[in-house]
Amino acid sequence: STFLKMTKKIKIGVIGGSGLYNLDHMKFIEEIHPETPWGYPSSKVIIVEDPKGFRIAFLTRHGIGHKYNPSEVPSRANIAALKHIGVEIIIAFSAVGSLQEEIKCRDFVIPDQIIDRTKGIRPSTFFEGGAAAHVTFADPFNSLLADLIYSNRKCIEEPENDGQSRPRLTVHRNKTLVCMEGPAFSTRAESKLYRSWNCDVINMSVLPEAKLAKEVEIAYQMICMSTDYDCWKQDEEVVSVENVLTNLNQNVENAKKLLAEILPDLEQALNDGKFDNLKGVMKKSCITNSN
Ligand code: ADE
Repeated sequence: STFLKMTKKIKIGVIGGSGLYNLDHMKFIEEIHPETPWGYPSSKVIIVEDPKGFRIAFLTRHGIGHKYNPSEVPSRANIAALKHIGVEIIIAFSAVGSLQEEIKCRDFVIPDQIIDRTKGIRPSTFFEGGAAAHVTFADPFNSLLADLIYSNRKCIEEPENDGQSRPRLTVHRNKTLVCMEGPAFSTRAESKLYRSWNCDVINMSVLPEAKLAKEVEIAYQMICMSTDYDCWKQDEEVVSVENVLTNLNQNVENAKKLLAEILPDLEQALNDGKFDNLKGVMKKSCITNSN
């Protein structure tokens, strides 16, 4: 297959969330649909190239036409497919609800922590059926990636006093993301509970994706795009698919802009071996005696 014929490894992977279904502003190189031991990924993996010649492997988490709900996303196939291509870094986008006043709709958030409120129904490890390993997950995201993304934020942040009536877009970092099962959104009591736990944003998609990336030694960072205030806020419209999608369409342009800006920095960091420290960490996490 083309999958096996590919010579040049693609080191940068991008996973698009709701609203981000393609990177068709970039030059198309090829598409592959690899079958992995965990089945097919959500969508074909699209290899694209930016004007500076940087290549990335893109896949859309919910599939073309948004056919998988968050509980159904074949995350193991997605991560395995990207790993097989040679991906060493994943930038994952996701729509989120805001649990804090200062995170406004359209704001971007670079989280550094996760609270798991999924219900244990999503396959979330590659190590089972004869191989046990316990990956370290204290810091679920890659802080170097977070730094790189944050240092490029000016391309989407809006200046103060720019004369617009809407609140200015800001990028936040070091926030806590709570991941719920869904597909129904939270009750008001749950939304308030997460606020009492100091959670900042909520989605249904970071898990098990982030865990699986750790298990295969891929540096992973999620970029959250705020679409709503969930349902904790009295004077605000309650979250619905309708208001999520409206805000998302505006966010997608910003997502593409930010990605274009960080790509050269990612390439540089890869060339400088900045992610090499991840290589081999899983060897120390295996507990099964292989002798
Ligand atoms: N994705 C976008 N908004 C959300 C919310 N309020 N809760 C869970 N996932 C979301």
